[in-house]
Order: sequence, then structure tokens, then C-alpha cells
Amino acid sequence: MTYVTCVTPGACKGRANHGSGRRLAIVSMGTRGRVPPAALAWVDPPTGPAIELLDQTQLPGTESVVTCTDVAQLVEAMQRLVVRGAPLLGIAGAYGVALAAARGDDVSAAATAIEAARPTAVNLGRGARLALGAYLRAVDGGGKVADASATGPDTAHQQAARAALEQARSIEAADARACADMARAGLALVPHGARILTHCNTGSLVTAGSGTAFGLVLEAHRAGRLGMLWIDETRPLLQGSRLTAFEARRAGLPHQVLPDAAAASLFAAGQVDLVVIGADRIAADGSVANKVGSYGLAVLARHHQVPFIVVAPTSTIDLDTADGATIVIEQRPAGEVTELAGHAIAPAGCPAYNPAFDVTPPGLVTAIVTERGVVHPVTVGNLRVLGAEREVGSSGAPEQPAPPGFRLADYVERWGS
Ligand code: MRU
Repeated sequence: MTYVTCVTPGACKGRANHGSGRRLAIVSMGTRGRVPPAALAWVDPPTGPAIELLDQTQLPGTESVVTCTDVAQLVEAMQRLVVRGAPLLGIAGAYGVALAAARGDDVSAAATAIEAARPTAVNLGRGARLALGAYLRAVDGGGKVADASATGPDTAHQQAARAALEQARSIEAADARACADMARAGLALVPHGARILTHCNTGSLVTAGSGTAFGLVLEAHRAGRLGMLWIDETRPLLQGSRLTAFEARRAGLPHQVLPDAAAASLFAAGQVDLVVIGADRIAADGSVANKVGSYGLAVLARHHQVPFIVVAPTSTIDLDTADGATIVIEQRPAGEVTELAGHAIAPAGCPAYNPAFDVTPPGLVTAIVTERGVVHPVTVGNLRVLGAEREVGSSGAPEQPAPPGFRLADYVERWGS
């Protein structure tokens, strides 16, 4: 059973099904006040084991929590976008493996099911595999059996389950540090008064920290450099207008939403200084898979000589995927395009092309901001050097200077020629 807890007072009256076609039980009407619940929370026994998810399909109108008590429910929540965004999917994937382990389920099968839930977001499989690895090492390795002989097989199993949970917590903590470090690393690329265009949703709803692209925007705002945040509505599921606008308002950022199709005229009017987006998978050649519409923005940015910046943790870089053509793009149901908020906006049965993501070739990407530094220019060699480094992320690092030779003016000059 998947449980839904409404935390927007009064908002869930009469609802027992949040649009998934599957019966969900409302277990309580919440009074948690105006601070929204965390995007994801692990629940220990005796209430758990379980994973609580802020239901992003209901935002901004309703803040409700979906509680997953097994992996099948978690996979369904991922596919419905209750929980979404590459870094948070990675964290959720790891907690999902920990959940299977804590329940005594088949942990390898759980990891496989989780990884397949959304094929493009590389963090998902990475998180699940890391937690599975921690579990299997604990089963096979020392901690295991020494204690098991003394206190029984259950103890060994519990220790392995704890190892998976610790791995999930460690991925979550590393992501929070990465957000802080990416924001500092990227700040040097943001000019004063910057009018930044962003796409999809990349803030605290999809990371353990302040976000990827949104984290940098927030840092720019705190540094007094943000003139305007332009938010693409991000059709068809409106992650921009529903979620990024929600986060921008909460953070007090100057912002406006626009229809995706209005971006071109916004560039033409000279109203965009910088495009800043996140990523779901970055191939070894620097190709960036991100929410569908990102590639179009990159083409527009190049045409209008505007820098196109990708902010993503190194956990989103996939050196095993050679290039953009090899990235598997998740295809979504036609109904997401032919319906809006449950209402038909196309003739019944109308087929639709609905890829969740598109791929921006590296030649259109000005720089990739990671927690380990800024990749510029975006080349196979530069990404490999970055990927080969040991994890160094630690919050508290000072703002990093722009990489040698990186000046926005240079880009404008180069692209203008
Ligand atoms: O389909 P979604 O909503 O999960 O897509 C999310 C995005 O495309 C984000 O831009 C991406 O995951 C990077 S965010 C931190």
C-alpha cells in the first residue's frame, strides 16, 4: 500500500487517488505549517522501513507526502514523477535498495528494477548500484560472518541492510556538498545583473542541497548578481512553471515564467545574458542529456551569442557512454502531451511524440560546472581528467575563479565572428 499524507491544510479533502490510476490511502491530514516537507526522507522502523516522498505531481497547489513501503511503489513513484530529477533519483535509488534490504527482499532484483525505472538519469542506476555493492560487500565480506556465527544469520543480514542504508546516506550527503561547491564554482561565470534563462526544475526538490542550475542562480542572487530568472514553463509536465517558480518565489528571486515557445523572441529582444540548466546524463564526449527543450535553447543561445552553462555533479558524468547518440532517451506516454491537468487538449487517441529528454552536443555547451571545478572547453579529455580525480567536494570552499581564458566577453566575440 502506498500512503499519501496531505500537508497542505484542507487540500486533500475527498481525494483518495492522486491520478496514478492506483488507489492511494490518505493516512492523515497534516499540519506541518508552511515549511514544505523534504523532497525525500527515510523512515526507520518501527514506523518504517519506508521512504517518504514529497509528491511533486501535486505541487504547487498541494503539499502531500507519498510513503513507499516497498520497491514496486518506489518505482511507480519514480515513473509518475512523484520523485524526479537526476540527483534525487540517485539518492532515492540508493534508499530503495536499502529498503529492499531492510525488508529482506531480493536486493539485486530490486536494484535492477530501480535502475530500469527511468533510463536516462544516470544517477539512478549509479545510486542503486552503489547501495547494492555496499550490501553485497557486507554480505560477502568480514562484517558479515564473524558476527553471524555469534548471533545468527539475521544479524549478518541486518548489518548488510545497514551498510546499504549508510551508502544511501553518504550519497545524499555528498550531493548536498556538491550543490554548495557547484554554486561557488559557477559564480564566476555569472555577470552582474545577469538575466538567466533556465529550463525544467533543478533546485532543492531534486537534490539534497540548493540544487544544480538553481543552486547557482540562488548563489548569484545572494551575491547581488541576479537581474532576472526567466523560467521556461517546460511542457508537457510544467516542471518550470509548477516547481521552479514555486522554488523561486520561496527564495525571493526576481522571476517570470514564459511559454517554452517564447524563448526565441526573448533572446531576440536581448533579454537573456546566460542560459543555465542541469543534466540527466553527460556522455564522455560532453553531450548533455537534459529535459526536452534544452537542445533548442542551446541552438538559440549560440545563434544569439549567449553562453550556455550546464551545472551538474560529477555523478551525472557517464564516461561509459561514449557520445550523445548512445544515450538512451526515455519516451513518455502520449497522454502527457494530449492532456493538460487531466483534461483532453487533443482529439481522443491522438498519437504524440513525447521524449522526456534531448541531447545537446558538446560544441554548443560553453561550460559544465561541477563540484570539482568548471569544465571548459567541453572536450573528451577535460571530462576524463575531471572524472579521474578523486572526490574532493567539501562545502566551505571559496568562490573559484573562472577557468583560465574564460571570459564571457570572449565567447561573445568568438561566437560573433
Ligand atoms: O523528467 P524530470 O522532471 O525528472 O527531468 C529533470 C531534469 O531534466 C532536470 O533538469 C535534471 O534532472 C537535472 S536537475 C538537477
